[in-house]
Amino acid sequence: MMERRQFMRVLGGAAVLAAVPALPGCSSTLPAEAVAAWQGPAPVPPGGDVRRWIVAHAILAPHSHNLQSWLVDLQQPGEIMLYCDHTRLLPETDPHSRQILMSQGTFLELLHLAALQQGLRAEIDLFPHGEFDPRTPPAPPHTHHATARVRLVPDASVQPDPLFGQIFQRRTNRSAYDMRTPAPQAVQAIAAACTAPRLRTSFALPGDARLSEHRAIARDAWRVELVTPRTMLESLKVLRVGPREIAEHRDGLSVNEPLPRLLAALGLFDRSRAPGPDDMAVTQQVQDFNAKIDATPAFFAMVTEGNTRSTQVLAGRAYARAQLAATAHGLAMHPLQQALQEYPEQARHYAAIHALLGATPGRATVQMWARLGYAPPVDPAPRRGVPAHVL
Ligand SMILES: Cc1cc2nc3c(=O)[nH]c(=O)nc-3n(C[C@H](O)[C@H](O)[C@H](O)COP(=O)(O)O)c2cc1C
Repeated sequence: MMERRQFMRVLGGAAVLAAVPALPGCSSTLPAEAVAAWQGPAPVPPGGDVRRWIVAHAILAPHSHNLQSWLVDLQQPGEIMLYCDHTRLLPETDPHSRQILMSQGTFLELLHLAALQQGLRAEIDLFPHGEFDPRTPPAPPHTHHATARVRLVPDASVQPDPLFGQIFQRRTNRSAYDMRTPAPQAVQAIAAACTAPRLRTSFALPGDARLSEHRAIARDAWRVELVTPRTMLESLKVLRVGPREIAEHRDGLSVNEPLPRLLAALGLFDRSRAPGPDDMAVTQQVQDFNAKIDATPAFFAMVTEGNTRSTQVLAGRAYARAQLAATAHGLAMHPLQQALQEYPEQARHYAAIHALLGATPGRATVQMWARLGYAPPVDPAPRRGVPAHVL
């Protein structure tokens, strides 16, 4: 017979997850130190280093699972070297680190916007030591993989970009959306902002016959991620429950609801084991997510020809611009990467979403697929702050 405490632990774990309205990343008001970065940096004092001000904006970029795998080296005056922290990867859900490279790109885009604001042109040289695979340790003499060497060049001709003003408002919004059709000018603005060589955008808007297929793929891909123990565990590992954990880590997926906090505080939430497919923890998550997919009026996608490391970084830059443009028009976005993930259990969803978007696997890659719609505002996600990123 199951011991009472063991039973409580299992029940507790299930209840914690069941109380989390759709992993990953949910929060009620977070501890102030975890979201202090959203207050923005102080103005650069005369003679001060503008690069820290720029980095303070770049760290507000979206990153898969909010891992913030950005390291910067400021030793060379006028330069920012961006490195990928290879201790912050998602080997199960992102086995080729495609999303990690995209997340290096989102950082570079915000860095570029912040530089313009200071009258600087950011000359971005991608992969100065050659393209790398984040999963392999860097070859000596390097201790980290360089994603980009950025030279900041004063340039009287540069103009601030209005998207800069959206950096502090942008959120990944995982709420239920209302079913209003996104305004045509908003959709146009997103498409116009989201540019990169050999990249196209795609929208499925209300009335589009493909909407039901989008919904079906999203639902099933999410269920598969939850019932695949190693991918579920990868999210559990970066789950931060309650103010103490959230403030300590300031990354990952925050859960700050009273019930999960209580259960975690009582030691009843075992994050070392994935729940079974029929556990309430999974069935409740599936139910919540399905309700959100039903409450999704539109989908947005980005498809690239080819899929080199540079293509992935540039796709990340384009995604950041798309989300900032959406924000400017009051539209929320919520990436749905499950079907795009390259682990075997997702192969049929990967094929299905590629077919639906007219992307021939091997030639074209769906880099981003997201819910799109109007939604109530949500809290910002934690950030570790500039010092945590400076080598
Ligand atoms: C490449 C990439 C993939 C992402 N995939 C997902 C996803 O599948 N599901 C999700 O809820 N959020 C996804 N996100 C959003 C991140 O979780 C989010 O950016 C992070 O938690 C920080 O929150 P913020 O965007 O509100 O600042 C993704 C972001 C990026 C850049």
